[in-house]
Amino acid sequence: MKAVSYISLFVPAVLGGTIYLAGDSTMAIGGGGNGTMGWGQFVAPYTTWTVSNQAIAGRSARSFTREGRFTAIADEVQSGDWVIIEFGHNDGGSLTPTDDGRTDCSGTGDETCTTVYDGVNETVLTFPAYLENAANTFTALGANVLISSQTPDNPWETGTFVDDPVRFVAYAELAAETAGVAYVDHWAYVADIYDTLGADVVDAFYPIDHTHTSPAGALVVAEAFFKAVVCGGVALKGALNTTSFEGECL
Ligand SMILES: *[C@@H]1O[C@H](CO)[C@@H](O)[C@H](O)[C@H]1NC(C)=O
Ligand SMILES: *[C@@H]1O[C@H](CO)[C@@H](O)[C@H](O)[C@H]1NC(C)=O
Ligand SMILES: *[C@@H]1O[C@H](CO)[C@@H](O)[C@H](O)[C@H]1NC(C)=O
Repeated sequence: MKAVSYISLFVPAVLGGTIYLAGDSTMAIGGGGNGTMGWGQFVAPYTTWTVSNQAIAGRSARSFTREGRFTAIADEVQSGDWVIIEFGHNDGGSLTPTDDGRTDCSGTGDETCTTVYDGVNETVLTFPAYLENAANTFTALGANVLISSQTPDNPWETGTFVDDPVRFVAYAELAAETAGVAYVDHWAYVADIYDTLGADVVDAFYPIDHTHTSPAGALVVAEAFFKAVVCGGVALKGALNTTSFEGECL
């Protein structure tokens, strides 16, 4: 009897909890459509934890927030779970009523902007503020949070390798620091692997445009993420089936 109850209590700890993924099309199931795929779909094969990929195409830190998608994760998340947050592809542009509700207020602190979206006045926060608010919500619930920088668009697009991180990369790092949560530079790890793979291989990962990957590309992008997690010593590495990835740490 004792052994049985011991096992039933112990098994959930061994299996781990849930890894929630919050992001855009580059992470989402179905990617950007037309046979592309987001890297979040390649997390499950590397872990015994449950993966809940709640990334959705077209979203920014702002629209993911306004649509209640962080709140939906907060409603489910359990102490000890992980929440991985990765945005940036849809956060730029000009703040106008026709921005699909995506553009953030410029700046990195507690600045606010006002706009009208969908006929409603909206107070818009900065990119780091949305991420910090989400991170604070999850950490208050006992969850572990990892903020990840966005992926690069195809750096071989021009035929020459160009690695020029957009501002949301540094903003993601700033948000993680401010919120006191883990950070990985996913951009840098993807760029590094793409540099090694070369133009022909990487171009083939982008069947429809320079942003959305094929399933094969998404797998490489996922492995770049895991390598960043392992190299960064993020505790999430304990949930992975391996800590051995090719190449040097950055
Ligand atoms: C980890 O999982 C991946 C994906 O299923 C697999 O390719 C790899 O061989 C596994 N690694 C180990 C060390 O089990
Ligand atoms: C938005 O706010 C402005 C300024 O306070 C106000 O004049 C306007 O009626 C509001 N619009 C909506 C749709 O609530
Ligand atoms: C995606 O597929 C649809 C339907 O075949 C097509 O109309 C559209 O142009 C494609 N989009 C891209 C970016 O290839």
